Amino acid sequence: MRLGSIPNGYHGTVPRVDADCLDLAEIARAAAILRAGGLVAFPTETVYGLGGRALDRAALARIFAAKGRPTTHPLIAHVLGEADARTLAAHWSPLASRLASAFWPGPLTLVVPRAPQVPLELTGGGDSVGVRAPSHPVARALLEALGEPIAAPSANRYQTLSPTTAAHVAASLGDLVDMILDGGPCSAGIESTVVDVRTATPVILRPGALDYPTLAAVVPGLEEAATTTPAASGAHASPGLDRRHYAPTTPLVRVPGRPALLAEAARRIGAGQQVALLLTAPLEEALPTSESGRAHVVSLGSDAAGYAHRLFAALHELDRGGFDAILVEAVPGSAPWRAVADRLQRASEGRVG
Ligand code: TXA
Ligand code: MG
Repeated sequence: MRLGSIPNGYHGTVPRVDADCLDLAEIARAAAILRAGGLVAFPTETVYGLGGRALDRAALARIFAAKGRPTTHPLIAHVLGEADARTLAAHWSPLASRLASAFWPGPLTLVVPRAPQVPLELTGGGDSVGVRAPSHPVARALLEALGEPIAAPSANRYQTLSPTTAAHVAASLGDLVDMILDGGPCSAGIESTVVDVRTATPVILRPGALDYPTLAAVVPGLEEAATTTPAASGAHASPGLDRRHYAPTTPLVRVPGRPALLAEAARRIGAGQQVALLLTAPLEEALPTSESGRAHVVSLGSDAAGYAHRLFAALHELDRGGFDAILVEAVPGSAPWRAVADRLQRASEGRVG
């Protein structure tokens, strides 16, 4: 399949690989590209990853260059399961085992001590390595075909929206990627939860698709690090915690409470602005219009998982809509919403409002 008009010009093919009927010839082609040191974007249950051989320094350098990401930000090594993860870790604790057996394959990244053979390029120069066993059948088939770990950050340019479809990848990376495997839209739609298991009490470094209550049921006492208050500067415990991350180019403004949101929308429409409203529940009230002002309303639903599934795709689409601003209704503060709230906060950092 060729994608239609892709802004940044990806000229390769985008084979559609159905999860329930894998095209093993395309998987083999993708594995051959990886083996030769190339980059392949592939679907996972969270977001699309930009894959390269995790133990190949040159491939890792290509990933950083394609993303435009600082080399101090570590990449996640994707593996088939605990046995492969152990080969990358200097020490594999009972806690790591407990979490891996409970949640792998799935949207959980474990930060463990780095084994000596793991290149520092993968770990951003640090002594820990993030490992995750994805559950997506295409990701697993690719890992099996290659037979070694795959480093894969989200397949987008640094500090831009994460991709949840093959078209998002092509638009963001263009020909910087050698092949894109299209497995359809990602089911979770938000990145994995990153948990540091190097200490007696594990710490969530990045909230993600696996929510706190589910994790805490297996690991009581699990801490939620100061993830929602990222350091303003300097070294980061986890680089996904950069203040501005996951951001659309259109200013994104979070407004607490629907009355305030409607007032802000009305004010902007009155001033002739085109605004998009991102809501949790449909809008019953009518919004004013003005000569040139207008509003476009999108409701992502009041269920955290459903909202997360649609969030990045909605932001990608609104970002192309030529709006002056995306006004976002604040989401609930409860635990299942933590990852969504985190991404919305980062997307709006540095913005007015
Ligand atoms: O769901 C996901 O995690 C996706 C898919 C493709 O697996 N990948 C992803 O990768 O989101 P990336 O590079 O965009 O974000 C990985 C995050 C980093 O921002 C960082 O927060 C954390 O994982 N991370 C990775 N290795 C780490 C380490 N050694 N220490 C601390 N944090 C680490
Ligand atoms: Mg990312």
